[in-house]
Amino acid sequence: MAMLDPILTGPWHYMSTWFLNDDVTPFNTAHGKTFWEYHGHEPNLNNFFNEAMASDARLVTQVLINEFKGVFEGLKSLVDVGGGTGTLAKAIAKSFPDLDCTVFDLPHVVAGLQGTHNLKYVGGDMFDEIPPTDAILLKWILHDWSDEECVKILKRCKEAIKGRGGKLIIIDMMIENHKRDDDFPETQLFFDMLMMVLLTGKERNEKEWAKLFSDAGFSYHKISPVLGLRSIIEVYP
Ligand SMILES: C[S@@+](CC[C@H](N)C(=O)[O-])C[C@H]1O[C@@H](n2cnc3c(N)ncnc32)[C@H](O)[C@@H]1O
Repeated sequence: MAMLDPILTGPWHYMSTWFLNDDVTPFNTAHGKTFWEYHGHEPNLNNFFNEAMASDARLVTQVLINEFKGVFEGLKSLVDVGGGTGTLAKAIAKSFPDLDCTVFDLPHVVAGLQGTHNLKYVGGDMFDEIPPTDAILLKWILHDWSDEECVKILKRCKEAIKGRGGKLIIIDMMIENHKRDDDFPETQLFFDMLMMVLLTGKERNEKEWAKLFSDAGFSYHKISPVLGLRSIIEVYP
């Protein structure tokens, strides 16, 4: 339903205008602001987009917690960067009562949300500073951003896990993943277009992901293609 709202379908009609101007995205050409600026000023978009993300998080939660428990074992703290209204972090906090979880998102997204004994909400900007932690979760974040912006976010993440032997747990799309039989190429390319229309991001193949990690100073990563179109990528300093 979110994807079919006129706020999100409108920008597709501005692609030819955008090709000829200097706006960062067709979304800017249609609405005069970036997606996240509009999100912060328009409660309707903020609500339906956050709910769409929460629906997606419900879909992923089961697989992650039931089949990928090992990813969280041994961790004392976790920050879900761009964690939205906290659907995924709440489920992780419930399954791992000794793990301190933080949902970190823009202030208008987490305003007024209540935590629990091992879950808290922190408002901020991931380009400025991310709270120190053992591990960072980035679900459907990096595909929203350009390579330069991703390297900045990844460097902030590296600072946040510094000296803790930590890691990043990325849940995102990996295109042209030849380890999978059911590659859904049309859907992957549609998402690539969607990221171009709404945001400054794109979908990436394994080589492009690896370049981001090495440009941000990470030395090792492991990919598990387990979530339909998406993979879990564990990244280590
Ligand atoms: C595509 S949504 C993903 C939400 C959630 N991780 C999920 O998968 O359900 C991207 C999230 O990044 C957040 N975000 C955007 N810019 C941000 C920034 N500068 N700092 C922190 N969070 C940001 C948005 O508010 C949004 O919740």
